[in-house]
Amino acid sequence: MKFFVDTAEIAEIRELAATGLLDGVTTNPSLIAKSGRNILEVIAEICEVVPGPVSAEVAATEYDQMLKEAAVLRKIAPNVAIKVPLTQDGLRTCYALSQEGVMVNVTLCFSAAQALLAAKAGATFISPFVGRLDDIGQNGMDLIADIVQIYANYPAIKTEVLVASIRNPIHLIEAAKMGADVATIPPGVIKQLYGHPLTDEGLATFLVDWAKTGQSIA
Ligand code: E4P
Repeated sequence: MKFFVDTAEIAEIRELAATGLLDGVTTNPSLIAKSGRNILEVIAEICEVVPGPVSAEVAATEYDQMLKEAAVLRKIAPNVAIKVPLTQDGLRTCYALSQEGVMVNVTLCFSAAQALLAAKAGATFISPFVGRLDDIGQNGMDLIADIVQIYANYPAIKTEVLVASIRNPIHLIEAAKMGADVATIPPGVIKQLYGHPLTDEGLATFLVDWAKTGQSIA
C-alpha cells in the first residue's frame, strides 16, 4: 500500500520523507490556505522533496478554466498530479488530461457511482473521503469496500483507490485489509501509527535492565 501525506506543510513533508515512508503528497485548497504559502511555490518545493505524485488542485469549476489552471500546475514538475473535483466539468477535464498522459486525482468522491465515472474518465486516482462520510453518519469504509470490489470486477480499470479524509489508524488498517492502493494520511495520524503502550513499556524495562549491566555498545 502506498502512503501519501495529506498536508502542504513543507517541514512536515521533509520530516516524513526522511523516514522513507512517503510515496506521495496530496494538497487541497484548504491545506494551501492553511500553509499561508503561494500554491505554485509550495507545490514546486514539495515536488523537489518527494519524487512520487504530488496532487495540486484546480480552483476553477468550469472546464475551460480548469484546463488553463491545469496547464499552469503541470508545468511545475513532472510528478504533479492534477486534482479535479468530481463534477461533470471535473471529469471532462480528467478525460482530456488523461488522454495527454497527465496524472489526475479525482477528489470529493462520496459514492461508488461517482468512482465508476472517474475510472471511465481515465482518472489515475479516485479519492473517496471516508472521514467526511463518517461525520454525517454513513460508514465511509463501506464505500471503499464497494469501490475496491467494483474496480476488481473490471481488470481494464487502472484507476487507483486513494483513501482520503482519514481520521485515525483504524481507517488505514481497514483500507489496507480491503486492498486499497493508496492512503493519504494526515501527519498526526502517521505519528499515531508508531505508538503502542506495550512498546513504550517494554522499552522502559529494557532501558532499566540495560543500565544495570553498566555496558555501552558504541
Ligand atoms: C484528500 O485529498 C483531501 O485533501 C483530504 O483527505 C480531506 O480530508 P479532510 O476531510 O480531513 O479535510
